Amino acid sequence: MKTLIAPSILSADMTRLGEEVESVLAAGADMIHFDVMDNHYVPNLTLGPLVCAALHKRLPDAVLDVHLMVSPVDPLIQSFAEAGARRIAIHPDAGVHTERSLALIQDLQCEAGLALNPGDGFDVLEWLQHRLDFVLIMTVNPGFGGQKLLPSCIAKIEQIHARYPSLPICIDGGVGISNIATLAQAGASQFVAGSAIFNTNNYAETISALRHALSSAP
Ligand code: DX5
Ligand code: ZN
Repeated sequence: MKTLIAPSILSADMTRLGEEVESVLAAGADMIHFDVMDNHYVPNLTLGPLVCAALHKRLPDAVLDVHLMVSPVDPLIQSFAEAGARRIAIHPDAGVHTERSLALIQDLQCEAGLALNPGDGFDVLEWLQHRLDFVLIMTVNPGFGGQKLLPSCIAKIEQIHARYPSLPICIDGGVGISNIATLAQAGASQFVAGSAIFNTNNYAETISALRHALSSAP
């Protein structure tokens, strides 16, 4: 399964967002993770479709990976697809009819992801897997960047990978050079990293250190 590294712009310098996104892409990022928070589903407020559209206009080839932490979710699925999102992940408890929301994402020609919080089980995947291009496993409680990865989530990654070996697993929260190999070993192939990348001075060095750590995973 293809390994993907997705810097989360939550930790970027927002006063220079366009340049920051250009820099991480030039440094080898595979896609840009775009965290949308509504101060309702999560206790924080971030970026909307306007900012996504502006980035898409500046960098039309960049894969914008939108993580919706908003409730209700359906109206924003439409807006972000129109704003150039290539992937959209939603939380099952943020909307009412999750299968319909995932179908909407795919109908809008985006890849669909289901985001599961640390306290969520994964039984829900059984009846949604036909609609999923990936599953986004939250390894922190959503709402803020820079939190520590919750080790209890590793067993869940292993169990999901064992049950659904062809479903790509993306990890979000607290990912860094010290734990990325463990996450890959558990079955993940896609990695969101915000503070671990943007809080360093040399993005290319950090991204290649993440890839190097991944290459050492058995
Ligand atoms: C948390 C967000 C994450 C966050 C990751 O709610 O979904 O994408 O930005 O940031 P780090 O990598 O700093 O934990
Ligand atoms: Zn996220």
